[in-house]
Amino acid sequence: MKTANQVLLDKIKDYVFRKMETVDAGHDISHIKRVLSNAQLINEREKGNAFLIEAGVLLHDITDEKLFNKEQAEKELIIFLQENEVYEDTIQLLLSIINAVSFGSEFDKSVKLSLEQKVVRDADRLDAIGAIGIARAFHYGGGKNRELFNEDIPPQTYQSTKEYRKSTSPTINHFYEKLLLLKDRMETETGKKMAQQRHEYMLGFLQQFYTEINTKGFSLE
Ligand code: ADP
Ligand code: NI
Repeated sequence: MKTANQVLLDKIKDYVFRKMETVDAGHDISHIKRVLSNAQLINEREKGNAFLIEAGVLLHDITDEKLFNKEQAEKELIIFLQENEVYEDTIQLLLSIINAVSFGSEFDKSVKLSLEQKVVRDADRLDAIGAIGIARAFHYGGGKNRELFNEDIPPQTYQSTKEYRKSTSPTINHFYEKLLLLKDRMETETGKKMAQQRHEYMLGFLQQFYTEINTKGFSLE
């Protein structure tokens, strides 16, 4: 017998898979599956609310402004959850998890994260670094026909979400503008450990990249 929460999670899964069908491969269902497995690994130690974490992971990209009309997507999600008799408090908790995940939300430092927000956020960030992170970055850059690397365009630091989103820099810059910063922004012990290993892998990749094209490249210090 499935519990009521398991039945609800199955319905959420169907809802998400349907909505994400048309989305690019950097954000597809396999991303959600990887994030779910990261989150479950992290939560073995953290022991947060497993239902909120799984539902939060499944839904974390469903109101993303880069993929959907955020306002519309949020409205539809609330209606869907209400139709499935999810308590209003739980709906609010889920929305707060979803909204805490994006790298952009980082710029608002006043917010204190709940355990479930930390687990889902770390799990999502792990999927942006390491080998999978490298693959996703070049996939994203390729989709926008960006240069791989341009020695004359140095990496920047962004002060706001808006500035960060406007960036059109070559893909290697994205490593400095986001990917290499993530290991110091992890919230959970397991997340930190996994991020460290993936971080070192990216440094090795960048070193090899610069060696192959015979350039000093941007600093790896
Ligand atoms: P967030 O909004 O949480 O920062 P995104 O949804 O924008 O993350 O990122 C999706 C994936 O695309 C991530 O793996 C991210 O690193 C990658 N990505 C985002 N922006 C760029 C960029 N300018 N160049 C290369 N990859 C990018
Ligand atoms: Ni994500």
